[in-house]
Amino acid sequence: MLPYPFMLTTLQSKRGEVMKVLVVGGGGREHTLVWKISQSPLVDKIYCAPGNGGIAALAECVDISATDIDNLVKFAVDNQIDLTVVGPDDPLMMGIVDAFEAKGLRVFGPNQNAALIEGSKVFSKNLMKKYGIPTATYEVFENSKDAVEYLKNVSYPTVVKAEGLALGKGVIIAQNYDEAVKAVKEIMEDKVFGQAGNRIVIEEFLVGQEISVLSFTDGNTIVPMVSAQDHKRAFDNDEGLNTGGMGTFSPSRIYTPEIADYCMEKIFKPTVQAMKQEGRKFKGILYFGLIQTKEGIKVLEYNARFGDPETQVVLPRLKGDIVEIFNAVIDERLSDVEVEWEDNAAVCVVMASGGYPVKYEKGYTIAGIEDAEAIEGVTVFHAGTKLVNNKIVTAGGRVLGVTAVGSDLDQAIKTAYAGVNKIYFKDMHYRKDIGIK
Ligand SMILES: Nc1ncnc2c1ncn2[C@@H]1O[C@H](COP(=O)(O)OP(=O)(O)OP(=O)(O)O)[C@@H](O)[C@H]1O
Ligand SMILES: [Mg+2]
Repeated sequence: MLPYPFMLTTLQSKRGEVMKVLVVGGGGREHTLVWKISQSPLVDKIYCAPGNGGIAALAECVDISATDIDNLVKFAVDNQIDLTVVGPDDPLMMGIVDAFEAKGLRVFGPNQNAALIEGSKVFSKNLMKKYGIPTATYEVFENSKDAVEYLKNVSYPTVVKAEGLALGKGVIIAQNYDEAVKAVKEIMEDKVFGQAGNRIVIEEFLVGQEISVLSFTDGNTIVPMVSAQDHKRAFDNDEGLNTGGMGTFSPSRIYTPEIADYCMEKIFKPTVQAMKQEGRKFKGILYFGLIQTKEGIKVLEYNARFGDPETQVVLPRLKGDIVEIFNAVIDERLSDVEVEWEDNAAVCVVMASGGYPVKYEKGYTIAGIEDAEAIEGVTVFHAGTKLVNNKIVTAGGRVLGVTAVGSDLDQAIKTAYAGVNKIYFKDMHYRKDIGIK
């Protein structure tokens, strides 16, 4: 750690005042980021673009979409923003960090050429192969004819993935040849995911529990965060359609210190090293989607940003000032900073609109948020809400992430559901088994 007076002078804004921060995005992840940033003594003003109904209590919401990079840059220049933190994936792939840096603005997140580790599954799979990072075996295809031919000789289930971003829908687990062919044709011929489906990856189906590990990295040093697990299916017992995530918990029960050491040596450090070697130094949040198979831990995917809803259970466990860490990453001195975690657990139960992830209504009044937050340990992060006439109303599929910290997972689960039980909106839907895995 650097001596405190030195830190103060380097971390405060160039204007010598406390900092103004802009957070880009408007979901539960961004609410959590704003919440954590608001606890920093280095920060006196937070803006969030576009924000949401819950974020509005902590930050000034600015009506600019997360992908409107020109206007975000203009806003940051006009308002002398000292630090911008980018939440979602699409602006990162579009090069928001490069655009901010070109104007001399401080921004937290990977450059476009490094964000490719999430933006292209062909790139990330080839990277893992080249550098010996454990992952499912795979083949890349540039046309549907070759892919269909290949599918005649694979074992099922098999996994078909569109190369690019597809809102979490570009991965199809095909149970048989017909399903796989259908997936290939939809992605490559019907272009249901547009350009994201120009190339596909077909890979080996892996069996095991999934673990998410987010990390801070400045391109040289990598500091993993505490582990998390999420529940993607809409209904209890992992039934129903895949969603953006119906809940999450931290730590994972299966991520032992031995596994963590293995991941550090065989996955985390090699990935950062590989990116550097490829001339794509990665600075920001590197997210490892891991699976524990019989042959050991393998990488399912990388993301180039905080996960949603994993962030909701990880950041409440982070001790100290996240802005210090962001600054250290930007200045490439992460090795100087001590990142410490609470020895506790956190659970986030997502409350969704009835019908999500397919079709749902919006605009219902939400009651009971204050009562939930009156319970010790509960924080309600807003995902899809809007402030209308001073009332919080539903404005998306995933509406709230009711989050609780506790001394252990059982305690956190109980507390989170005590919070959920205080909240009501029409047709609300949530899983009753979050954290029990
Ligand atoms: N090889 C595989 N074997 C088994 N399941 C897989 C495999 N690849 C992906 N999956 C399943 O599909 C999910 C999504 O895959 P992946 O993470 O590659 O896609 P994504 O669209 O980038 O996801 P996200 O929206 O979480 O970033 C995984 O969480 C996992 O459950
Ligand atoms: Mg991904």
